[in-house]
Amino acid sequence: MAVDVLVENITQIWTDRRGGELRALDGLSHRFASGRFSCILGPSGCGKSTLAQIVGGLERPTSGKVDIRDADGAVIAPGAASVMVWQNQNLFPWRSVLDNIAFGLEVAGVSRAERYERARALIGSVGLRGFERHLPRQLSGGMRQRVALARALIMDRPILLMDEPFGALDAQTKFVMQEELLRIFEAHRRTVIFVTHSIEEAVLLGDEVVVMTARPGRIKEVIEVDLPRPRRLEMMGQPEFAALTGRALALIRDEVTRALAEQDRPEHAA
Ligand SMILES: Nc1ncnc2c1ncn2[C@@H]1O[C@H](COP(=O)(O)OP(=O)(O)OP(=O)(O)O)[C@@H](O)[C@H]1O
Ligand SMILES: [Mg+2]
Repeated sequence: MAVDVLVENITQIWTDRRGGELRALDGLSHRFASGRFSCILGPSGCGKSTLAQIVGGLERPTSGKVDIRDADGAVIAPGAASVMVWQNQNLFPWRSVLDNIAFGLEVAGVSRAERYERARALIGSVGLRGFERHLPRQLSGGMRQRVALARALIMDRPILLMDEPFGALDAQTKFVMQEELLRIFEAHRRTVIFVTHSIEEAVLLGDEVVVMTARPGRIKEVIEVDLPRPRRLEMMGQPEFAALTGRALALIRDEVTRALAEQDRPEHAA
């Protein structure tokens, strides 16, 4: 169950508050290879979420296309191939953990017995055993994020799109979630597109780090992360790790500076 995602020359022009054009992405092309973990890094507002939404089929690009193919070369529609995990998890507050996780299967018409069986099987792998009947408000932020992850994984889609899923978590919980995700990725290789602001997170998780320019978003450089898998948090102390984060930092620094300068221009002021 592995698919290639070919993003071809995508330009996205949004309409801004004044009815003008805002070029979010500008001719962006990249191949997100089957079974690879790609991290997208770039300054705020450079179009990362826009790209994730386009790949996920939630938005149609102004021009360019997303070509998704399975191992036999058959074309798959973007929305059908992927599932998205966001930063704010939007769990149903009145549904139990189990029912939140099983929600997608319910919509897909899977029987109650089967969806509970599949949800129970996943609950252990995201460390929530014993919390099946809890409501979201009875959980910590990190636990809620695990429910969101399980809810996405249960759909068994070949593409996992994650838009800053751990952005709101405290540092320790983030480490736990990163390890969890690494373990799950080892067990079920998918094509993962993971948006993050954190250079360390990108290098720890990714097979590649796609560094974007400030808006309009283009690809500045793709850093290959050749650290061995399984990855461990301890690797963050190694010189190879520092060399990779150093390189990403150098690339991103110029772009962040440029994005801030752009923001200060009078035509962008409120
Ligand atoms: N639906 C929309 N309508 C109009 N403009 C939008 C829309 N979505 C995003 N934009 C604009 O497009 C640009 C890129 O936004 P996007 O959310 O993709 O950036 P991002 O890289 O994800 O930023 P962040 O790191 O802050 O999440 C921004 O200037 C944003 O204001
Ligand atoms: Mg975003």
